[in-house]
Amino acid sequence: MPIFEMMYTRTILLMFSMVVTIWTCTPTVEEGEARVPHLPAETYQYYNTEAVQGLFFDPYNDSIIDDDIATLGRVLFYDTRLSRNNRVSCGSCHKQVTGFADNLVRSEGFEFNLAGRNTQAIVNTGTQVGFFWDLREQALDHMVLQPIANHIEMGIDEEEYMVAKVEDAAYYKPLFINAFGSEEVTSERMGIAMAQFIRSIISYQSKYDIGRSQVNTNLDEFPNFTEEENFGRRLFFTKFPCSTCHGGPNLDGSLTFAQNIGLDEHYNDPGVIGLMDANTPLNGWFKTPSLRNIALTGPYMHDGRFGTLEEVVEFYNSGIQYHPQLSQTLRTHSNGGLFNLGPVIDPSLEVEINGTIPLRMFMSQSEKNALIAFMRTLTDYQVLGDPKFSDPFTSKP
Ligand code: HEC
Ligand code: HEC
Repeated sequence: MPIFEMMYTRTILLMFSMVVTIWTCTPTVEEGEARVPHLPAETYQYYNTEAVQGLFFDPYNDSIIDDDIATLGRVLFYDTRLSRNNRVSCGSCHKQVTGFADNLVRSEGFEFNLAGRNTQAIVNTGTQVGFFWDLREQALDHMVLQPIANHIEMGIDEEEYMVAKVEDAAYYKPLFINAFGSEEVTSERMGIAMAQFIRSIISYQSKYDIGRSQVNTNLDEFPNFTEEENFGRRLFFTKFPCSTCHGGPNLDGSLTFAQNIGLDEHYNDPGVIGLMDANTPLNGWFKTPSLRNIALTGPYMHDGRFGTLEEVVEFYNSGIQYHPQLSQTLRTHSNGGLFNLGPVIDPSLEVEINGTIPLRMFMSQSEKNALIAFMRTLTDYQVLGDPKFSDPFTSKP
């Protein structure tokens, strides 16, 4: 190889390695700085008329969904700018592919510290009236600002600083103008926008929904279900008390709100303590979660203690602990109760307090399998793959 050619090659190599060195040594621009959202030329439709028509529930709870406001909400939801060091967004913990939950026992906040509880799934949230595992927030527009201020989750507790960070990003100007008619950024507008985006995340196309739309009640045989799924559906709605708490179209606590299900004799996390009545502090009561997309949202319970649905079912079958606040539905009443399952239990073998012992369900293996098969029909792949709910910073329309 002629000498100049070698030099040429070496120069190229040298230049290449310099570029690599410079590139790797450059102090990383704080993550999020260079991020811009990619939005579709034509605004996505967030108000879903198909979901409203012919459904057996009102997905929006009479709220108005404006496509431009929800679009702004989507960008805010996925913007890492809303955390102090530009590291995490709402979407870091609430991931679309896993039902807007994540697969961690507790997720990491902006400084790698662990959140206090298991990340809740988000879907059909607009139909609900209380938020967080302890139901401490009732207004979604206000609730959605809490994670930003939370010292573990996103860490921006000064309102002016949060507003300034949003004002700083040029891409927000047109979004605020389209949504609210002016570029003014306020926490109130941010709350409304994120809440509208969250309200627009409607699940209504799971196998369960399709079957449900073909029959009169959830007690009828679903024509699209396998035999095992229908067996599980019957167990869920009749033999076992599951639907007493996980009821209604979202299989959530819309009627029973929070319950103590006897996970522990002594709870480390008090849950809904003191919220309902100061004189009778609740202990171990937690929001009854919706079971929509439940197959994807594990680990389970407020502390993520169960890794699989098998473990959850085994807990209900044989693991309920006595607790003074244990739900009446999960006790065996010596005077006969709503659910007295299986053989009469010898009370001497169980802790009997106030004439009640924790319910034992005596499930057979095929019953356990069927319950799980039924719960798997609640997964809605449409909502989990819909581009309008995806991260606009990493996906393109
Ligand atoms: C670090 C992880 C993390 C981040 C970031 C995060 N969340 Fe959460 N989210 C959680 C956890 C954990 C809970 C349950 C907290 C509790 O009960 O105390 C929760 C609960 C919720 C709920 C309540 C759902 C229900 O059914 O009651 C909503 C809604 C929600 N988050 C929205 C948001 C929004 C909006 C953002 C961004 C502004 C956000 N989250 C950022 C982890 C996170
Ligand atoms: C007395 C009311 C009640 C009954 C009855 C009940 N549940 Fe629950 N369920 C709850 C509550 C409350 C939680 C959350 C408890 C916690 O985290 O402390 C829960 C949690 C769950 C979870 C985990 C949800 C998540 O997002 O982590 C599953 C799965 C579940 N229940 C399924 C069932 C099945 C199956 C049955 C019937 C065998 C049943 N439940 C009966 C109230 C109930």
